[in-house]
Amino acid sequence: MKTLNFAVLPGDGIGPEVMRVALEILESLGQKYGFSIDYKEADIGGIAIDNHGTAFPEITHKICQDSDAILFGSVGGPKWESLPPKEQPERAALLPIRKTFSLYANIRPGLLYSELSEASPLKNARIPNGIDLVCIRELTGGIYFGQPKSTFEKDGEAVAIDTMIYKASEIERIAQVAIDTAKARQLKVCSVDKANVLETSVLWRKVVTEYFAKNAPEIELSHMYVDNAAMQLARDPNQFDVLFTENMFGDILSDEMGVICGSLGMLASASLGATKNCLNLPFGLYEPSGGTAPDIAGKGTANPCAQVLSAAMMLRYSFGENTAAKALEDAVRLAVTSGKRTGDIAFGKEAISTKAMGTAILKAL
Ligand code: IPM
Ligand code: MN
Repeated sequence: MKTLNFAVLPGDGIGPEVMRVALEILESLGQKYGFSIDYKEADIGGIAIDNHGTAFPEITHKICQDSDAILFGSVGGPKWESLPPKEQPERAALLPIRKTFSLYANIRPGLLYSELSEASPLKNARIPNGIDLVCIRELTGGIYFGQPKSTFEKDGEAVAIDTMIYKASEIERIAQVAIDTAKARQLKVCSVDKANVLETSVLWRKVVTEYFAKNAPEIELSHMYVDNAAMQLARDPNQFDVLFTENMFGDILSDEMGVICGSLGMLASASLGATKNCLNLPFGLYEPSGGTAPDIAGKGTANPCAQVLSAAMMLRYSFGENTAAKALEDAVRLAVTSGKRTGDIAFGKEAISTKAMGTAILKAL
């Protein structure tokens, strides 16, 4: 039997409770689809600061390195918010893990089942059929990592600088991910930039246009300025199918996409690496789009769907288990649309526990 070898980093807040559900489901899914799971757990984020003095300890790095994928919970919380920004879990764990493993391709599906349309601020009237799009965000370049990046003193006052920088090769490799994504969907990509102002965006637009023309002429490619894209997304999200953009624009637009999709508790994500794993598939990190939800952590009420759907993405991208991945996504949809709901998506229905939601998904499987 095939064994799936991955690292499990539950992190903080609701991370451990939703992770437990995802692991249980993977275990039982494997029995049906002919694989077993072999995972190693490690600390990341706030819990790692508490246990090891640093948010991304060496031992965690080693365990990830020896794995074929990383299933990630979430990091951060009030307990660590008084630390200097650079030492806080979000910056000291997430950004280094992305850079260390060259996780350049962030894939965030924006999926809202039509049965949950009322959960969206756009309400049923604007999105009677729900929402279905995907955001492809470049994750290891641009202003997040560009050098110089510092704060210094000049002419008697404080000055800070960040650098937005892109190489053509970085744009091309993420363009390929947008193409692959569009080929499995509606052959339609909207590339988002700020080419009326930024040099990096002028280059982005040129490289993307040429790369698509040469490698995927069958895909309908359009371009949009980021300010307009933010507006269009709030007005009519379904005009987009694949939304494709650089690091910081993708950060902002994917949060906007998250909110119009109702609950963050339903949104999964994948961050694919530049390197291949033992199966010659992309090494990747898979995490829910929502945060640690400190207000409900430990109560057993969090929505585990985003974690479960992230596990489905892991099966698909890093393990090539497409049938099992699809079955899992269908099971989550069936469980939710048949009325099983955690508090965040209950809307008058009975709110069930994290564990009960897991059971409902297993039953739907
Ligand atoms: C995200 C987060 C991170 C980002 C933060 C926590 C560093 O907002 O994954 O979108 O800005 O990329
Ligand atoms: Mn963000």
